[in-house]
Amino acid sequence: MSVFSQTIKETAALVEAALDQFLPTQGGPLGRVADAMRWGALDGGKRLRPFLAVAAADMFACPRTRSVRVGCAVEMIHCYSLIHDDLPAMDDSDLRRGRPSVHKKYDDATAILAGDALLTQAFEILAEAETHPDANIRCALALELARASGKAGMVGGQMIDIYAEQKNFDFAGVTQLQRLKTGAIIRFSAIGGGIVGGGSADEVAALSAYAEDLGLAFQIVDDILDETSDAQALGKPVGQDSEMDKATFIKLFGMDGAKTKAAELVESAKAHLDRFGDASAPLKGAADFVFERKS
Ligand code: IPE
Ligand code: IPE
Ligand code: MG
Ligand code: MG
Ligand code: MG
Repeated sequence: MSVFSQTIKETAALVEAALDQFLPTQGGPLGRVADAMRWGALDGGKRLRPFLAVAAADMFACPRTRSVRVGCAVEMIHCYSLIHDDLPAMDDSDLRRGRPSVHKKYDDATAILAGDALLTQAFEILAEAETHPDANIRCALALELARASGKAGMVGGQMIDIYAEQKNFDFAGVTQLQRLKTGAIIRFSAIGGGIVGGGSADEVAALSAYAEDLGLAFQIVDDILDETSDAQALGKPVGQDSEMDKATFIKLFGMDGAKTKAAELVESAKAHLDRFGDASAPLKGAADFVFERKS
């Protein structure tokens, strides 16, 4: 096993344990939404976003108790976005992380509510004193996560993604779509780690530049896998992008062109980390992983 796959596994285990604590089971009428939140957030996924948060914070010797909380917050936002993305009104996907998506396991209303509750709990975690003793840091984290998640970030990207079906988007259009839909949350993951770790404005800016390139590469690879992989390996349906005529880099540049673009972005992402020296090896490993991943 490579050093990177070992470290992402270790971080994922820390995050899984913390998420399990944050998402208790419950009796009574709230039990259904509590169970659906656990179904959508526990026991699956690569946990790339929390890895980025923890690995970025590690460069500043930040206590893991703090950075794992930032990782959990961003993973909750990510899981909420997946639950809603899979709904019949959006991508209508029955499979997620190798098992029925939340609306299939429960129902549409429960899936909407479970997503909403994960979204709000993410901000609750950031606001709690355990995330950082300095309220200014907690506020900066909440501000950045709100920007990354909302209309100027993931939600906006999802809107363009739906609008873009059957429209011809050029390079700038697809880039903007991907930066918002996927890039903004990935950017938050890295800068959130820098912020909770007490990085300087310059250091956080370098993390931001890294994650912007990485986020774009990540979505290009997601689109490539949608066309080249299978549901068994990916744990989610394949072939949906061309079926729904989604705007992707493959549609613009073809498969080889999209691969070349992703490879260039990964190299450029890593170059932004050179100032951190050897401490940046885990984040550089994450960039290679994004390009090489099979799921
Ligand atoms: C899938 O994200 C959704 C996109 C933003 C492309 P991931 O590929 O990180 O999904 P999980 O978390 O590993 O399931
Ligand atoms: C969705 O992109 C990204 C989100 C904001 C959830 P996709 O629709 O391509 O994600 P998958 O392929 O279903 O994971
Ligand atoms: Mg989608
Ligand atoms: Mg989808
Ligand atoms: Mg996809």
